[in-house]
Amino acid sequence: MAEELYIAASNDKSEQYATLIPQIESLVADEKDFIANLSNIAAALKQAMGFFWVGFYIVKEDQLVLGPFQGPIACTRIQFGKGVCGASWKEKKTILVPDVDAFPGHIACSSASRSEIVLPALNQGDVALVLDVDSDKLNDFDETDQRHLEKVIKIIERLL
Ligand code: SME
Repeated sequence: MAEELYIAASNDKSEQYATLIPQIESLVADEKDFIANLSNIAAALKQAMGFFWVGFYIVKEDQLVLGPFQGPIACTRIQFGKGVCGASWKEKKTILVPDVDAFPGHIACSSASRSEIVLPALNQGDVALVLDVDSDKLNDFDETDQRHLEKVIKIIERLL
């Protein structure tokens, strides 16, 4: 396992992700514990990308329950279909929200959050968890984030 995270010197988001993602692969390669792996993935994303809030909500019975994360304290439970996370779970797809105030039913865990991206990880067709990333800036996520974070999701799906 890599003991130090190498952070790309570039300001280019694609290059930052390209440097980070192979390191995430090696971080989880030799560890079988799922929560330990999610914890390091959240920390690596925060450290390399400087996200305001990044973490996981795990499907437990009929709710999403807060999992490993980095950032300010957050809501612990989200109902199916509620908020951006619950909608991503229900629709089984990535949801990119440029302005959280314009998303009906957005759950404001932090009043500082302005934009958000949520990606589901599937296990045999069912959503097992969602990856949620929040920014304190409007319109902070785009297709580049989506494309690269979907690679992180693929890594997680292989761990399920
Ligand atoms: N805003 C999310 C809730 C989770 S927090 O952002 C950490 C939502 O609407 O589902």
